[in-house]
Amino acid sequence: MYKCLQVCNLTPSNGLLHPKVSLIKISANYRVGERVRLIVPRKSTELQGITDHHRTKVARNVNLERLQKNYLFPEISARELEHMEKYPDAKIISLGIGDTTQPIPDIVAHTMSDFARDLSTRKGYRGYGAEQGNKELRKAVADTLYKDVAVKDTEVFISDGSQCDISRLQLLLGSEVSIAVQDPNFPAYMDSSVIIGQSGEFQDNMSKYKNVQYMTCKPENNFFPDLSTASRTDIIFFCSPNNPTGHAASYEQLQQLVDFAKMNGSIIVYDSAYAAYITDGSPRSIYEIPGAKEVAIEISSFSKIAGFTGVRLGWTVVPEELLYSNGFPVIHDFNRIVCTCFNGASSIAQAGGLACLSSEGLKAIYSVVDYYKENANILLNTFASMGLKAYGGVNAPYVWVHFPGSRSWDVFAEILEKANLITVPGSGFGPGGEEHIRVTAFGHRESILEASTRLKSLY
Ligand SMILES: Cc1ncc(COP(=O)(O)O)c(C=O)c1O
Repeated sequence: MYKCLQVCNLTPSNGLLHPKVSLIKISANYRVGERVRLIVPRKSTELQGITDHHRTKVARNVNLERLQKNYLFPEISARELEHMEKYPDAKIISLGIGDTTQPIPDIVAHTMSDFARDLSTRKGYRGYGAEQGNKELRKAVADTLYKDVAVKDTEVFISDGSQCDISRLQLLLGSEVSIAVQDPNFPAYMDSSVIIGQSGEFQDNMSKYKNVQYMTCKPENNFFPDLSTASRTDIIFFCSPNNPTGHAASYEQLQQLVDFAKMNGSIIVYDSAYAAYITDGSPRSIYEIPGAKEVAIEISSFSKIAGFTGVRLGWTVVPEELLYSNGFPVIHDFNRIVCTCFNGASSIAQAGGLACLSSEGLKAIYSVVDYYKENANILLNTFASMGLKAYGGVNAPYVWVHFPGSRSWDVFAEILEKANLITVPGSGFGPGGEEHIRVTAFGHRESILEASTRLKSLY
């Protein structure tokens, strides 16, 4: 049940005792005196999903207890629902969750359907494939997407998407490593770090976990952390082009990052899920930087290049040159993790991936990328014409808009109330995202144009 209250003297927390309303759970960031959304459980134990049924004697994983509830997208959905109840005729347009909308190109979809149909024949049936992925696809990824940086096909591990590989990498790294993340950041790095036990407690007053280095990436520092003040960590999660800021790190910035990792003996986990959107000459892979193979693992995905968010296909590159402190190659351990915890990506999806990387497939998927990039350009120009500072959008399907002095949830609420548009409050990506919203360009053109018109008349 949802209830809005005026709150006072509360501190942000997952669950806390309110002087007037027994046990409540805060479902959004807030300030004292501001209207907030509260979930009021029927029973206090519901607060933690605890029921009166039979209990096992198994203790809950303490790391999962430490994990903060992810309120961002559930809260956005709840607010959208509430808005629809209030204005049933409102034509809501979502510029929120970064999911693709354009159909998968014909050549790719047909290859998958032919492959699937062949599975019903004696001749075409295939069972388990190699855990590391189909040889042809590994080679196609290496030869097509890494042709100038000499990644070997045996260093490419095909996966069911990069989010899944982030967690498999955490399993590889274990709980003892120290980590750094960009702030703001894609939440999967931080949450998987907490789950595996790398972080300390969440500090409510800072909205940060202890023992994690948050590397601020703001317009003031050209969305690149000041490495001269950063302390050493074992692992550095780095995403470029970045979700949510849309910033693609320059060659010089990535050179600095690689040098920093080398000097400190750190490993970079480099997320290039949006590399296909880069058009300004910024590196599409960390391996364009000399020496990067000795310090970096790269994760990537077909999701945002080919509309495979539902099909599920990605890859991870672990170079042979990447060694632990004892000289043992990381690739051998990753191979073991993949063989143990993953049994290979869907053969149908891999057939689709191979079609994407054919010359006809590449043409088709890049034309969809161009379509989204044009959407991003429309959004970028819209915010610029409104006199707002907007970032990203050039090398990424996200536009990151600054509303100086405003809280991001307030901006979200105002745009929803007045323009029937769903955006994403920047604070959902970390404390460094406050005062910003993220809008996605993954919509249909007519929705983007309509959203642009509404935004211009709003401000
Ligand atoms: C930066 C980044 N990495 C990884 C992912 C997950 O991609 P996949 O669909 O391959 O799991 C996303 C999805 O939005 C993302 O934004």
